[in-house]
Amino acid sequence: MPKKTDQQWLRDQLDFVCSQADKVSHIEPARAQTYGLHTALKLGALNHSLNVFLPIARNQIDEKHTFGGAVYVDLFAGSGLTRVAETGDLVAGSPIIAAGNRRSFDQIICIEDDKETQAVLEQRLSEFRNRMYTILRGDCNEIAPTLHRYLRFGNPLAFVFIDPEGMEIKWRTLEALSRQFPYMDILMNFTYGAQRVLGDIRGGRTVNEQVMDEFAGPGWPMLLLSEDDTVVNFVEGKIATTLGRPLGDKVLVRDASNRQRYFLMVRMRRTGGGTPFLRGYIDMLRRISRLTVEDVRGVLNDRFGRSLTSFETSRRDD
Ligand SMILES: C[S@@+](CC[C@H](N)C(=O)[O-])C[C@H]1O[C@@H](n2cnc3c(N)ncnc32)[C@H](O)[C@@H]1O
Repeated sequence: MPKKTDQQWLRDQLDFVCSQADKVSHIEPARAQTYGLHTALKLGALNHSLNVFLPIARNQIDEKHTFGGAVYVDLFAGSGLTRVAETGDLVAGSPIIAAGNRRSFDQIICIEDDKETQAVLEQRLSEFRNRMYTILRGDCNEIAPTLHRYLRFGNPLAFVFIDPEGMEIKWRTLEALSRQFPYMDILMNFTYGAQRVLGDIRGGRTVNEQVMDEFAGPGWPMLLLSEDDTVVNFVEGKIATTLGRPLGDKVLVRDASNRQRYFLMVRMRRTGGGTPFLRGYIDMLRRISRLTVEDVRGVLNDRFGRSLTSFETSRRDD
C-alpha cells in the first residue's frame, strides 16, 4: 500500500479526534479547555502513538501473556474536551482519545488537579461504558509515587502521557514513574518555556532556579556552563541514561505565530521486541516535523465545512 501523505495522515488522526469529541460534546460543552491550533498536532500524535502501542500491547498481553495488562497513565488529564482557540472547533482531549480507541487499555488512570475539570472529565469518561478508568484528583507529582496502589493488575505494560501547560512536571515524578513501570513508553509535551526560564537564570534572575531545580532535577546547573546547552537535551539525556530509556526522539512544535511552543518527546526502553513500537513512534515524529499549524487549520476547515473550495462553490451557486 502506498504510504499516506503527511496531510492524509493528519486528516486521519484529527478525524478520529473530532469524532471522539462528538461523543462527549453534549456534556457541558462550555467546560472545554481552550488551546491553540498547535494542540491538535499533539492530540494527533497521541492518537497515532496509541495506535502503535495498543495492537502490540494487546498481542503481548492476550496472546503471549508476557504482561498482566496495559495501562494508560495521563498525568495532566484535563477535561476531555478542548476548544481550538483560532477556529472554535471542539476536539477530544487525551483521556477521551485513549478511551475511544477500538482496542482497549485494561485500565486508564487520569490525574487532574482542578476539581471542576476532574468532575467534568469523569462525566465524559462515563460515556465509555466498557472502559475501566480511575480518576485521581490532585497534584500528579504527589500522586505519582504511589500510583501502583491504584493498579488493578501486576506486571503492567504502560503508556504514559505527560502534558503540562508549563514546567509543572517534576524530575522526581519521572523517576517515580520509572521505578514503578519498568515497561513504559513515554509521550511528553516538553514546554519550550523551560528554555526561556534557563535564559532568565543565565541572565541573573535567580528566582527561577527553584523551578528549574524541580523540573530538570540534579545536575541542571551544568546548563549554565555552556550557552549552547538546552534544557530539553539535558532532560532527554537523563531519561535515556539515568532512567534507562535510551530509545526515542523529539520534534519541535510551533504555534500560529511561529513561536516555539513545545517539543513532543518519545522515550522508551530497549527491549527485544521493542523495535515495532519505536518505528511507529518515529514515523509519527517525522510527520509532525513536516507539518505546521496551517495544515491543522486546513484539515479542520475541511472537516467543519469551511474549506475555500466549499466557500467558492457556494459563491458560484449564488
Ligand atoms: C494542557 S492541560 C491537559 C490537556 C489534556 N492532556 C488533553 O490533551 O486534553 C493541563 C491540565 O493539567 C492540570 N494540572 C495542572 N497542574 C497539575 C498537576 N500538578 N497535577 C495534575 N494536573 C495538573 C490542569 O488543570 C489542566 O487541566
